[in-house]
Amino acid sequence: MMTETEVFRVAGLAGEKKLSGTIAVSGSKNEALPLLASALLFGDPVRFANMPQISDIESMRTLLESIGVVSESKEHTLTVDARGISKEPFNRDVARKFRASVIATGPLLARTGEVVFPPPGGCLIGKRPIDVFLSGYEKMGATVSVLDDGEVFRITAPEGGLRGAHIIFRVQSVTGTEALLMAAVLAHGTTTLENVALEPEVTALAEALCACGAKIDGIGTTTLVITGTGGVPLSFGDRSPIAVIPDRIEAGSFIVLGALCAENLTITNCATKHLSLPLEMLRDAGVSFEATDTTVTISNNTKANKVFRSLQIRTHEYPGFPTDLQAPMSIFATQATGESVVEEMIFEGRLGYLEDIARMGANIVIADSHKAIITGPMKLTGRELYSPDLRAGLAYIIAALVAKGTSHIYNIHYIERGYEHIEEKLRGIGVAIERAVV
Ligand code: EPZ
Repeated sequence: MMTETEVFRVAGLAGEKKLSGTIAVSGSKNEALPLLASALLFGDPVRFANMPQISDIESMRTLLESIGVVSESKEHTLTVDARGISKEPFNRDVARKFRASVIATGPLLARTGEVVFPPPGGCLIGKRPIDVFLSGYEKMGATVSVLDDGEVFRITAPEGGLRGAHIIFRVQSVTGTEALLMAAVLAHGTTTLENVALEPEVTALAEALCACGAKIDGIGTTTLVITGTGGVPLSFGDRSPIAVIPDRIEAGSFIVLGALCAENLTITNCATKHLSLPLEMLRDAGVSFEATDTTVTISNNTKANKVFRSLQIRTHEYPGFPTDLQAPMSIFATQATGESVVEEMIFEGRLGYLEDIARMGANIVIADSHKAIITGPMKLTGRELYSPDLRAGLAYIIAALVAKGTSHIYNIHYIERGYEHIEEKLRGIGVAIERAVV
């Protein structure tokens, strides 16, 4: 029996820059997820504002619900109450659905002394091990057991709770930093985390926790020193809701979209300070825009007077070029003149989508799992595209718009994981995108 599949049908602009208007960026998925998990550290309800309405947030809410946490949403504000927290294992199906479920292990272990969870799932972008988390918890005195042939992890804190420790990260893991930071906030004594991630989402989480009484020194540096509360939960009280920072990856993707497909486009609700390098690279490549602290405006971007130059994209931990912007930027490279080199240094499985882009007509040589060479500009033709992850999914929409003809984008559940109301937002600037059942 044939099953029906929902896809995005996108009408290409055949290289013309026809879009115009204003498009707003939503709250950052990758800050919203650890913030939600941080509710486990509190003895009273916590409130968040600018929460993106995306399926990863719903998954995190369902995961927390499976261990007794109640949350209530009103538009973009969310109240999360962990007073009824239990020692139930995480809902296995939900935890497997998204990698970020592993972030919740840190605060849960610190709060209840035990966490039972399956290996986390997520996008198909590489191996994504969790050794950094496990060895960190062990350094804090926890015992890690692997059960059911590796299908379940049980982590148990020592008698009396997690103990402060000196932990040096083997890799600057974003979610690893967030999980251990949150575990350390409720631990006994002082924890030093060295070689931590500097991504804005990590810094924003640390600042939010500090504003609620956590003691964290070194925020914004690669060494964090956390003085634990000794098991006493944080108190939110009647503070104003914590506002999620703007999603720098969504903003960066919209800027690429604007450069390739819009005559005039204003991107609002950004934090341009988090996009310094991508903006610099696009300017060097010939994109003209005006940036304020919160907006980027591309104007008079007509085909006649715009030739973009090729660029070198080498992903790196922040403040380097974000791996999550690598796919949209590679689509830009297909329309730039000359040879662009793309080097994916964070994940080993994040260039596969380029095969689809090559099938659309781009000149791409994938040298190995970390490196590709894109020679442009090339005309693209619409086709069927199967998103392997959410960031490549949005890049496919951009490629489909650049192309001539219609494209059908499959696996739209990936796109929905990270981009709020994407069809409405895109339609608002003139994109012909619709949901179709095929
Ligand atoms: C976060 O993933 C983001 N996810 C990812 O965003 C982002 O691509 C990535 O950081 C890098 O910036 C969230 O914040 C929810 P890492 P994370 O641990 O934390 C290796 C998106 O599209 N590693 O910083 O899972 C790992 O394999 C996503 O929004 C270990 O070896 O990434 C990778 O090579 C996808 N052992 C490197 O570290 C570990 O225990 C960095 O990964 C952990 C990680």
